[in-house]
Amino acid sequence: MSDRILMAPSILSADFTRLAEAIELVEAGGADYIHIDVMDGHFVPNLTIGPPVIKSIKRIATKPLDVHLMIDNADSTIDWYLDAGADSVTVHVESCPHLHRTLMRIREAGASPAVCVNPATPVDAIIEVLGMVDMVLIMSVNPGFGGQAFIGRAAEKVSELAWMCGELGIDPLIQIDGGITLETAPLVSAEGARVLVAGNAVFGQSDPVAAMQAIRVAAQAAIV
Ligand code: DX5
Ligand code: ZN
Repeated sequence: MSDRILMAPSILSADFTRLAEAIELVEAGGADYIHIDVMDGHFVPNLTIGPPVIKSIKRIATKPLDVHLMIDNADSTIDWYLDAGADSVTVHVESCPHLHRTLMRIREAGASPAVCVNPATPVDAIIEVLGMVDMVLIMSVNPGFGGQAFIGRAAEKVSELAWMCGELGIDPLIQIDGGITLETAPLVSAEGARVLVAGNAVFGQSDPVAAMQAIRVAAQAAIV
């Protein structure tokens, strides 16, 4: 497992009227990915952005687009996001009955497949596909909104996942999403999380770049 913390600021908490500026700012400040939250009002109780906006972001972004699909019908609409320019596509085990096929499709299209578990889903639920993905996302809030409080049990789930991966001899990146702050980031990096999504703790701050960099430093310091 790499010791490097990667930062994936979530534009969900950015000013949507000035998205390009927000993205350019965090890219210049060292963001490793741009995290894009797609919500459909069905799988989660919120609506955000979809393929046309991703396509526009792709024209200006220089970092990989990390597209997190919180939607009901990802199995049948996955190509929309691949065509829009997603570099990494994360799908939820809870919403994909044909998860294996969907992850294969993402890989075939040349993007990076990732799978996600909600707070109520045990990490065991993804054991059959763990070897197929480049990244696993552990949700540390119930998906749908930015600015929610971190669910502490997520740190234990990161640890369980890291152990499972060790047993299987695989090394996907472990990503965490929801309630990540200066205080919570070290709790998950210590257990093996390496990609930190942060929305409110970056774009909700007066200096998003300083905030993002501070979270990275705090998370990095907790890696033993
Ligand atoms: C929540 C989204 C997150 C969200 C995180 O459903 O998946 O990516 O933007 O926001 P914070 O970091 O504010 O909890
Ligand atoms: Zn997300």
